[in-house]
Parts: sequence; structure tokens; C-alpha cells
Amino acid sequence: MKVLGVNAVFHDPAAALVIDGVTVAAAEEERFSRRKHGKSPVPFSTWELPEQAMAWCLSHAGIAPADLDAVAYSYDPELAPQPDGDITASEWEGLRTLYARRAPLFLQTVLPGLDPDRVRWVPHHVAHAASATFPSGFDPCAVLVLDGRGERASHLAGRFEDGRFTPLAAQVLPHSLGLLYEELTAHLGFRRSSDEYKVMAMASYGRPAFLAELRDLVRTDGAGGFSVAPVDLAAFAPALAPDAEFTARHADLACSVQRRLEEVLLDLALWLHASTGLRDLVMAGGVALNCVANSRIWAEGPFERVWVQPASGDSGTALGAALHVAAELGDAVGPMPTAALGRGWDDDALAARLARAGIPFEAPADLPGAVAEVLASDGVVAWFQGRSEFGPRALGHRSLLADPRRAENLEKLNDIKGREQFRPVAPMVLAERAAEVFCDGPIPSPFMLFTHRVRPGWAERIPAVVHVDGTARIQTVDRREEPLVAAMLEAFAARTGVPVVVNTSLNTAGRPMVDDPRDALECFGSAPVDALAIGRFLVRRPAAAAPVADAGAMTATESIGTPGRREPRGAEAA
Ligand SMILES: [Fe+2]
Repeated sequence: MKVLGVNAVFHDPAAALVIDGVTVAAAEEERFSRRKHGKSPVPFSTWELPEQAMAWCLSHAGIAPADLDAVAYSYDPELAPQPDGDITASEWEGLRTLYARRAPLFLQTVLPGLDPDRVRWVPHHVAHAASATFPSGFDPCAVLVLDGRGERASHLAGRFEDGRFTPLAAQVLPHSLGLLYEELTAHLGFRRSSDEYKVMAMASYGRPAFLAELRDLVRTDGAGGFSVAPVDLAAFAPALAPDAEFTARHADLACSVQRRLEEVLLDLALWLHASTGLRDLVMAGGVALNCVANSRIWAEGPFERVWVQPASGDSGTALGAALHVAAELGDAVGPMPTAALGRGWDDDALAARLARAGIPFEAPADLPGAVAEVLASDGVVAWFQGRSEFGPRALGHRSLLADPRRAENLEKLNDIKGREQFRPVAPMVLAERAAEVFCDGPIPSPFMLFTHRVRPGWAERIPAVVHVDGTARIQTVDRREEPLVAAMLEAFAARTGVPVVVNTSLNTAGRPMVDDPRDALECFGSAPVDALAIGRFLVRRPAAAAPVADAGAMTATESIGTPGRREPRGAEAA
């Protein structure tokens, strides 16, 4: 069966193609449109479809819309609030439902030849659940989905066995842990539905000073659900304007909400374990991108194994919806060994792109060694290899790499990316040496969804990747799955004795992750990156001319990791 999954309703529009139970392609629209998160999550944008991502998935597989057995749409308008009265006036929710209901016709318009009767609705949280159950390879397993909202709920818990999902609990709106975290994100001057991970980073600078109050406001109900009373965030700390400096109170508020979130998730996990008696847990939904909370569930929760979908945000519902429908149609759906499900180019195509750009490049016999040499000489390398990642994490396919031994590389990378200096960058580490450097987290951890503590003796050796709380969000690299990345790490370890390299996503300020070679060349041309490793080629930056004084120069005088520090004046918000 050929099933195209589509996420279009809220944010992070995406498409995924599953053929005979195998995920052959998955991509987010932002990587094509270059518009971060694809679109605004407002009701009147619901008609917008991930047109380029859908078209690419089909062309990648060499099939036409008429060949599709089903299109799985990750939202069921019949479960949502129904249009009532003048939906263009004050209450716009009905507009979302109306547009979602019309999706088959919209899809037919952009996918000529598609039979609109082949479109199937998949409830939003069922799609999230399927994005974790089938890909995990765990069967049976318990399932926990938490996000801002779906049709009428913000949470779904259940059991998965023999390829079938059975719901056990769902929390209806307005109670939503995801929306509370989004409110806090906006309150702290960040972008809602986008910058929640900045709040998580800020929380590390605070104390849980308001935890007692939050325990009163946010409660579990003992039946697998929870309640969130209206929270007056301003009573704890005043709202921050974008780019304003945060105070200790703001960090304390971030810390308190983060801690309460962790406690509630642990409670929900305990209930789910007691209800199912199962050994393994899988998670998805935007809240499952909170790697600090995931780590507490792993360390303190009742489950033996915890698997989190790397595309846990709404883009992952395109994949989940497709997998769910493929299983319904009778296909045996297999696990997901990699997140590298996006576009890729072969070396001939890359060489042609480089030649067309008129850029000198070399083809080193030992590319991993040449890259390790640049890194060990304190260079920053843009690393563009294989197919792009599905989901928000760079996992060694579209990455910026640097030497973790130099603390100043944190500031350097945050400046390249126009990010706040309080935000950490993450390490990738050879899987077989991960336990030597990191502890208190699952190993292997190939998708960067958990935090680990950096072992004593190593923190001072790799200061660029150690967050203020002594943790790091690691990616373990297995040479069987990622031979080229592993070879680069080995070459770096051979030169430095350190099996760890800084890995952050390949993008500049406010831009989606680089996806195609032109994006890579634009990024390389516009940012102080020393080399671009693209396919088997290496592009080196010519010896720099004298730097031009500009606003960015002020960053050199500021210290790393100072609470309250934002990006330099003139830089775009990340
Ligand atoms: Fe969602």
C-alpha cells in the first residue's frame, strides 16, 4: 500500500510517504519554503498544505498522486469544535474545522489525479501515538502523548499491542501542559510554539522558587489525566519584551514550571505503568521534545525502556498518520532505524552545484580526517552529508561542528546562529565511548532526546558542551548506522584524545535548517564557517581579509553563559 501522511492543521506542516509499511520519505515544508515552522498556527492558515514536501515525497518514490492508496490527514474535523455562526468574527476555531473538512478538495487541487475519497482522517493524538509506537519497534508498549492541543484534548495515554492502539486516558482542553509551557514561552519574550526549548535552557539558571504554587495550580487527577488552573504568570515575574534581559525571577519561574511539568509527567507515567503493567514506554507530542523531562522519566519513572519519536512535534503526525493508516490497510509496519528521511544528493550532483557556484573545492582521500584536522585547529565546519533529518534535531546530516575543548566555541556557534548565549550546544560522541564521558541517561541515545550528566574529569575537558547545570544533550553515534560521522569522530579522537565533537543544527539566525546544497552554500557564504564538508568534497574558506568592525564585534567582550544575555544587537532572533 502507498500511503501519504500529511500534517497541515497547526504548525510544522510536513509530509511522509509509507510504502508497504516502510517509511521511504518524510520532510517538513519549512525545509523547502525556508519559512521557519512552515506557517502560523492560526485557524485561517489551515487550508495551507505542505505542497513542496508532498510533491518531493512522491517524486522521490517515483509515483503519482493517482497511485496513492490513501492520504492520511493528521486531524479529524468531526472530533473538533464545529463551525457555528459568524466564524470570521471573534471565534475562529470553527474556521479550522471547516478548512480541515475541505482538505480532500484542497489536496486534489495540489495533487492532480488524487481521488479525494482516498483521504482518511486520523485523530491528531492517535497520529502522534502511531509516530512513536511503530517506529520504536516496541510491541507491546505503553504510549504517552502530550502537546499543546489536538481536536479537543491535549493528551492521550494508552497501550499498544500486536500493532493495535487502545486508548486508556485523554485530557480534554482547556487543560494542557503544552499550552501552559507555550504561555510561559510567550511571557518570557520568546516565540510561542517555537521557542519552548529556550525556556527549558533558561530553567537551568533558576531555582524552583514557585514550585509550591504551581503544585496547587497544576494537578494530576489519579485517573491518568490532569488539571491546569488559570496561571497568572505575571504574579511570579513580569512579562518580558522580546530581546529584554531576564532576571533571576524569570529564571526561577522557568525552573518552577519546568519542575512541575516533570513531576506531572512522572505521575502520568506511574499511572500508565500501573494501568498497563508494561515494561516499555514510547512518547510523542511537542512536550516529548523536553529532554530534561524525558530524562527524569527515564531515570525515575517505572518503565525499563523509554523511546521518544525524534519528530515529536506536529511534523511527526504526518508520519504517524501514514503509519496508522498503513497498518489499518493491512501492511506490516516496521520500526524506524533513522531520522534521515529527507532529501539527499549524490556526489555528481554536488560537484555540479559547486562547479556552478564557481567555488574551489577539493576531494580529500580522507574526508573525515580532513574535517577532524580543521576542527582540531579550532575551525568550525558545516557538515552536509546524506539525507536530511526529519524533525528538529541535527543528527550528523545537516550539522555545524566544532571543537568541544574550547569553551569559546559555545559563544562562537551561538553568534553564527544568532542565538542567545544562555543556550547550550550539544555533543555527539562515539557510541562505544559514550559511557566513559556521560552518565545518568540512556545510552545509546541516537536522537538527542535526553540529557546526561558529564562525568567528573570530563567537564573541564569539553567545556563548550557542558550546560550550566553540568548536563549535556548527547547524540551517540553508532558506526554501523552512521559510518561517516563515526569516522570523523574517530579521526578527531585520534588527534585530540576526545571522542566528542560539538554538533548543532546547520542554519543561521532565524532560518530553518539547511536542506539542499544551495542552502548550504548560502550558509557557508554568509557565516564565519571555516569549511564546508559536502558529500565527499571539502570547501575551505580562503584566508580571511581584515575583519570589518560591526555590531557583532561587541560579542567578543562579553562572557559566556551570563544569565540575561541575549544575542548581539542587530542579530535576528533564532
Ligand atoms: Fe500535536
